[in-house]
Amino acid sequence: MAIPASLQKGLTLPVISSPMFLVSGPDLVVEACNAGIIGTFPSLNQRTTEGYRDWLQEIKGRLSPDAAAFGVNHIVHPTNPRLMADMMVSVEEKAPLIITSLGAVRDVVDAVHGYGGVVFHDIANIRHARKAAEAGVDGLILVANGAGGHAGIINPFALINEVRSFYDGTIILAGAISTGQDVAAALMMGADFAYMGTRFINTTEALAPEAYKQMVIDSGATDIVHTPAVSGIPANFMTKSLVENGIDPKHLPEHKLDMGDEAKAWKTVWSAGQGAGAIHDVVPTAELVARLRQEFAQATEQFSARFPTG
Ligand SMILES: Cc1cc2nc3c(=O)[nH]c(=O)nc-3n(C[C@H](O)[C@H](O)[C@H](O)COP(=O)(O)O)c2cc1C
Repeated sequence: MAIPASLQKGLTLPVISSPMFLVSGPDLVVEACNAGIIGTFPSLNQRTTEGYRDWLQEIKGRLSPDAAAFGVNHIVHPTNPRLMADMMVSVEEKAPLIITSLGAVRDVVDAVHGYGGVVFHDIANIRHARKAAEAGVDGLILVANGAGGHAGIINPFALINEVRSFYDGTIILAGAISTGQDVAAALMMGADFAYMGTRFINTTEALAPEAYKQMVIDSGATDIVHTPAVSGIPANFMTKSLVENGIDPKHLPEHKLDMGDEAKAWKTVWSAGQGAGAIHDVVPTAELVARLRQEFAQATEQFSARFPTG
């Protein structure tokens, strides 16, 4: 259980601003890293592999010397025709952290280790956690119940305890982590990092439209529905967004609705996790990270005062 040495540089709080389709771009990544947390984005947020390379080079150029590391997300699945080309760019540009989704593949892990990079893989169930561990990934991102995007349905306590029983690499916990107190709680549970998506939708640098950010503010945990209807794979979406698009959240089919390709579907119906209920504002990323650090410090101080060990 540890944070890989290459990711410790510049880290002021063990938090990863997670990759979000159509939401995370260079401004969010640069501000996150310069504020001392790991910023990430999906390579597919750029329309082409060359555009992806441009973003990587832009990010590297804008990071301060004492910034935290950045990461990129690749969808490792036959439906992603850009995987090989984008991976080549990640290797050439030596992206410090690669986050793989769907497939955990030994070849990808070896290619990233070849230049000294680190691979974290996201999982939502135990079977996938075991497969990724066998593929030699450096860390497992446990996507628990209530997370934004393709969320799991397992309770975070259950997930972390079961994975820890067979895995001693880095553990990153995801799902409705919105505050510095939540980050402290995730570490208390045995995670090495907290992985936060929905909270970072509501930053000024996120690429989401203003109405999307307002809907996050207006939504609580019960305004989030877990359904395969939008993406084919079960994911969490805001019911207000379904309703705005004429979809009845109470009568969702068990199959994918015809909403065009994946990008069109995610652009139309907006995803968020149950942590939306704790989000009340849109703030610059640097301010959010400073707030998280302050809440984290306060939470740990209060805990030590309530339960002194000496
Ligand atoms: C709008 C949105 C888009 C997402 N897109 C991706 C993605 O492209 N790749 C990925 O690995 N995870 C994606 N995720 C999942 C997040 O990286 C992360 O697992 C999740 O947001 C964590 O839960 P939280 O939102 O409750 O903090 C997305 C999440 C959201 C909310």
